[in-house]
Amino acid sequence: MSSRATERFLVTGAGGCIGSWVIALLAREGATVVGLDLASDARRLREIAGDAVADAVTIEQADITAKDEIERVVDIHEITNVIHLAALQVPFCREDPALGAQVNVLGTVNTFETVRERLDRIKGLVYASSVAIYGADDSEVALADEAGIGTHPATLYGVYKQANEGTARVYWDENAIPSIGLRPYTVYGPGRDQGVTSAPTLAIAAAVRGESYTIPFGGVSLYNFTADVAAAFVGSSRALADGAEGAQLFNVPGPSVAMTDVIRAIEQAVPGAAGLIDHDDSVTLPIPPAVAHSGLEAHVGALSSTPFEEGVRSTVAHFREAA
Ligand SMILES: NC(=O)c1ccc[n+]([C@@H]2O[C@H](COP(=O)([O-])OP(=O)(O)OC[C@H]3O[C@@H](n4cnc5c(N)ncnc54)[C@H](O)[C@@H]3O)[C@@H](O)[C@H]2O)c1
Repeated sequence: MSSRATERFLVTGAGGCIGSWVIALLAREGATVVGLDLASDARRLREIAGDAVADAVTIEQADITAKDEIERVVDIHEITNVIHLAALQVPFCREDPALGAQVNVLGTVNTFETVRERLDRIKGLVYASSVAIYGADDSEVALADEAGIGTHPATLYGVYKQANEGTARVYWDENAIPSIGLRPYTVYGPGRDQGVTSAPTLAIAAAVRGESYTIPFGGVSLYNFTADVAAAFVGSSRALADGAEGAQLFNVPGPSVAMTDVIRAIEQAVPGAAGLIDHDDSVTLPIPPAVAHSGLEAHVGALSSTPFEEGVRSTVAHFREAA
């Protein structure tokens, strides 16, 4: 087992939703954690973990498209574990594909290179891939054990994430850099406020405010509660520190929920919200409705998978308190 006492985590994309939850989890454990983000604003961390944590954690302003900026932060803080989350989501990649490629693809290569040059201290890289590496017609591949091979992403964002998975495979083959890529599906919960699949969380927030909201898609999705996703990233990072090998890829497990049941759960959790939340059933996400749960727990130990209704209730409570 790696020594928890000597762990020093770096979280890229620290200002984002998942980054803030990862930092909150590590800070709560008393672990040493530093954030890296283009933005210096710790708004989501403040919202999720409170002022004391947000004030105590160092967030270094740096751009992952410049390798020397990642290196500077990694070396100043003598980082031992890197959790790489910084990325531009689907709408931002669509708006500016070249910038999307720089941040999502080059930024990931830069992070791998930084780790490769410090393998004595950093045992590998955990990074966020995405269910978006699958296309809508990839159901068979998505449900197979060898998930991820021969997929057809529908968006440039998915193509960039697929490229990162290939990057990880080659870094293992050529340089023996171990990695774990996690593919979340629809992440929901406090702090989830941007990206296509933020709509269910935005709907919860609207219901709490007593406002109407239309979720712009329907269909069945897997739902990953923010706290569960954060724990999966931290567990994976520790698995690498403990000696996990290979370029491993895992879909993040979570409950499968139809949009009508998403809306029902919101209405049950927010009295008076009946009729406020609607959805566009003519649009489905360009990803398969179900994906394999390819054995993440065998590598990182037991994982929490919050029941959807409980995650919604917890998110409602959070928004009420914030209001
Ligand atoms: N949220 C989801 O449902 C979901 C699903 C699948 C995969 N993912 C992946 O998980 C990771 C985290 O997602 P999230 O929801 O927290 O995203 P987010 O959009 O909330 O946060 C991303 C963060 O990356 C930062 N960033 C952007 N460009 C940067 C740069 N050049 N240098 C440094 N930082 C930069 C942003 O400032 C932002 O704080 C991403 O890689 C995302 O693609 C998310």
